[in-house]
Amino acid sequence: MTEINRHNFANPQAMAQQVSADVGAIIANALAARGSALLALSGGSSPFPIYERLAKSDLDWARVSIFTVDERFVDSESPLSNIAALKQAFLATQASVLPLFDNIDDLSSAASQANNRLQSLDWPPDLVWLGMGTDGHFASIFPGPDFDTALSPMDGAKAISVHPDPLPADAPVPRISLTAPAIADARHLILTIAGEAKKAVLDHAMELGEASVTPIGRFMASLKRPISIYWTEN
Ligand code: 6PG
Repeated sequence: MTEINRHNFANPQAMAQQVSADVGAIIANALAARGSALLALSGGSSPFPIYERLAKSDLDWARVSIFTVDERFVDSESPLSNIAALKQAFLATQASVLPLFDNIDDLSSAASQANNRLQSLDWPPDLVWLGMGTDGHFASIFPGPDFDTALSPMDGAKAISVHPDPLPADAPVPRISLTAPAIADARHLILTIAGEAKKAVLDHAMELGEASVTPIGRFMASLKRPISIYWTEN
């Protein structure tokens, strides 16, 4: 098992303060060391109050590039689009917010486009920021026909198409996701979660390790890099 740094909080405000300070320091250090910062941020809903706080940090945002850890296969105008929500969250900054793919009709073309775009970036990202569902998915790595490929792609793919089975109720659409090895490349890896239910899922998955059927359990069992897990009670 890898090095796991756990940070627990009594409320979302306290967690947001710490996470935005820690991520701000990761960005500042990357800017100082390499002159730019590359961040992969999750969609969903829970990290957005933290993104809004982070966006108010005094950083040289013009040298920061952000892309999404995963994207729902929807038009970029859709309320389900992660890139639309991220663009909005960082609108007041000068950060570049980069879509994984353009609006196109075909899922496998979107996956190739995402993969090519990621291959052309200055890899690895300084930060990959993950969220997790109560079903134990993270990024868009779900049980289903693409699960094994997402965990260990044969061809070194950084992004693949995913057909979750079953489709998640809150956004029942196919996805494009970073693969587990691409996520694990990150210079810094964090996971933010809220509530007892997600904590119980994560703890149980980590206890089972390799034998876990959940994406997060399988990922944590294979992870060689440190990860910081931020959890708030509600
Ligand atoms: C997505 C996500 C996904 C998300 C979790 C947690 O696009 O669906 O990136 O992996 O992080 O579903 O979502 P919440 O933070 O909204 O609970």
